[in-house]
Amino acid sequence: MSDINKILITGRLYREIGEALESKISKEILCLPEDKVTEKELRCADAYVAFKPTDNFAFYNIKWVHALGAGVDGFLFGRQWKKDVLLTRTICSFGKKISEYCLSYILSDLQHHREFKKNQQEKLWKQLTPASIGSQTILILGTGVIGSEVAKSLSYFGAEVIGVSLSGKTVNYFNRTIKFSDVQEYLSRVDWLINTLPLTESTQGIIDDNIFKYLNSAGFINVGRGSTLNEKALLKALVNNNIKIAILDVFPAEPLPLESELWSNSNIIITPHISAITDVDEAVECFLNTLTGIESGETNLKNKVSIKKGY
Ligand code: GLV
Repeated sequence: MSDINKILITGRLYREIGEALESKISKEILCLPEDKVTEKELRCADAYVAFKPTDNFAFYNIKWVHALGAGVDGFLFGRQWKKDVLLTRTICSFGKKISEYCLSYILSDLQHHREFKKNQQEKLWKQLTPASIGSQTILILGTGVIGSEVAKSLSYFGAEVIGVSLSGKTVNYFNRTIKFSDVQEYLSRVDWLINTLPLTESTQGIIDDNIFKYLNSAGFINVGRGSTLNEKALLKALVNNNIKIAILDVFPAEPLPLESELWSNSNIIITPHISAITDVDEAVECFLNTLTGIESGETNLKNKVSIKKGY
């Protein structure tokens, strides 16, 4: 790739990341909030660094786009990508963070936190035996860097972890990995369904009745993308007890609109997209490693996004 000299950084964390980079690289760095990015800045940039494109984004002379998040649907979904523009994403401790998020809700359920809180209000002494993670069968949609890190944490506690991907290719830390087309036969014995899928043309609305109807009172956690889930199908699955509790961190529209039915469902826990928040130091480290890789002609950047696959 020809020289990267002018780097435009915008959107959330633009100032913090820009300041951290100033002393580390001798490039021209332009840091601006999204609403201050005009055609002029876009035109002079060689590289664009942000969580998502600005509304007026166009490629002009940009040769490299670096996403500050793990998900790149903001850049790719429904957008024509310019051939030869490199897209990389941030890979850091997202998998660990998401593992902790999932563990916190799974443990809370297995340890009967809700019941004990309620019983305490009534001064009711009633033993309920906690279940252990080791007794659980957990199916994870997506076997990439995040899904496999979640599998690693859960398997440490002895859970049976089944990974689901389009290819069904074997991946470390899963007891087995299967193809999405074979998922139905495993669903009836699954205790937890965890979604880590990115949003692409082929995953949009993929978690629907055809998945939920086979589950028996399972827990559902969505840490992938909101639009991979069919919300109506989820609400129906909660009524039919295919799903007993749903923990949702991502939504098609964020913030979740006030009129959404999800807010008031007592079997749904809503968190505001916090399961893996980008940390400035990690983002800077990942950016610098990527820049070094690009400048040294590395052809196998591990955080390079496949434009065709969309992740
Ligand atoms: C958060 O959702 C991210 O893409 O990093």
